[in-house]
Amino acid sequence: MPRPFASASATAARKDYTVPETPTAIRPAPRARVKAMKEYHPPLGCRDALRLDFNENTLACSPKVREALSRISTGDLTRYPEREPVEATVAAHLGLAEAQVALTNGVDEAIHVLFEAFLEDGDELLLPVPTYTMYEVYASATDARTVAVQAAPDLQFPFERLLAAITHRTKIIAIANPNSPSGSVAARAQILEVAARAPNAVVLIDEAYFHFHGETVLDLIGIVPNLVVARTFSKAYGLAGLRLGMLAGPVDLMRWVRRVLSPYSVNSLALTCLPAALDDQAYLDWYAGEVLAARSEFEAALDAARVRRWPTHANFVLVDIGPRHAEFARRMREAGVLVRDRSSDPGCDGCVRITIGTRQQMRQAITALNETLAALRAAGEAQ
Ligand SMILES: Cc1ncc(COP(=O)(O)O)c(C=O)c1O
Repeated sequence: MPRPFASASATAARKDYTVPETPTAIRPAPRARVKAMKEYHPPLGCRDALRLDFNENTLACSPKVREALSRISTGDLTRYPEREPVEATVAAHLGLAEAQVALTNGVDEAIHVLFEAFLEDGDELLLPVPTYTMYEVYASATDARTVAVQAAPDLQFPFERLLAAITHRTKIIAIANPNSPSGSVAARAQILEVAARAPNAVVLIDEAYFHFHGETVLDLIGIVPNLVVARTFSKAYGLAGLRLGMLAGPVDLMRWVRRVLSPYSVNSLALTCLPAALDDQAYLDWYAGEVLAARSEFEAALDAARVRRWPTHANFVLVDIGPRHAEFARRMREAGVLVRDRSSDPGCDGCVRITIGTRQQMRQAITALNETLAALRAAGEAQ
């Protein structure tokens, strides 16, 4: 039997190589911007717990995706993935032209390549905050400046403030719609106004949570010349582990995005599963409907427990726990339910974000919530 990995022993290689004697202070230096970046470590999950801390689908992907996975051949694994035919399928599914759509390794890669393609020294990224963390992370690796536009305490989309912050330097405006962690939305007319007032900027509308909201501006792709839309398969579709996202935009803008996009960043397993996922609209509709029903029940439970919450259009809800937010998240974890402490987000002091799953799962969450609140209140710890 051939032993493919047996020949080159790491120990043998190490013997052949003499480490040059250089002062330890001499090391290859990263770019100054990278040095200044903060490390980002998402919290690790806990396999047995109910995971309501990442806004994922909490149940499963479509059974059709599982079937597609079982048909993966050895050839699919040995060959480099071919993205273009699947991009054509996705474009047709969304009523767009193939050249208007790029598949990416999650929306995170879409954000990354868009920023790489457009942001340079002297440019500004306009960011209504609080919002999704990765916009700032990827912007901080470029030479552009991030201009945060703080939402009012109601955490609604800061439309007027955003318009007022647009300058000739504004190069990208990133709007998550619905937004995370607030769950708030920007209206179509507001998005159109922002795009019209910033003709030199790319307006990114991140519709990661579209399936729970139902409103989109995807139909304006190619009509509004500076509008791009991102969608993910990580949320309602239940494919976060496959890392699949997409960016849609006018052909002339997508050309530049494609220059920096790796041709192979979407792997064969993801490409095989995607048409099957698109094919099962009934499953997607059922899951979104289940989440909306669970959300109503959960909101009623929050109200009954006198927990302040923000109105939400997504599969999560932001709640105000007060000074004991970290303790709350820890106790919920002990009760088997993971939630996300968002207290350090701008304007979110004391806040925790809770993903909405199925009604059954949220009943478990309600029990944990009530027990946790009772324990905190008994200890005089809650608001
Ligand atoms: C607004 C928003 N955009 C994008 C993402 C990431 O999507 P993906 O898993 O496709 O990278 C998230 C994940 O939480 C999100 O909240």
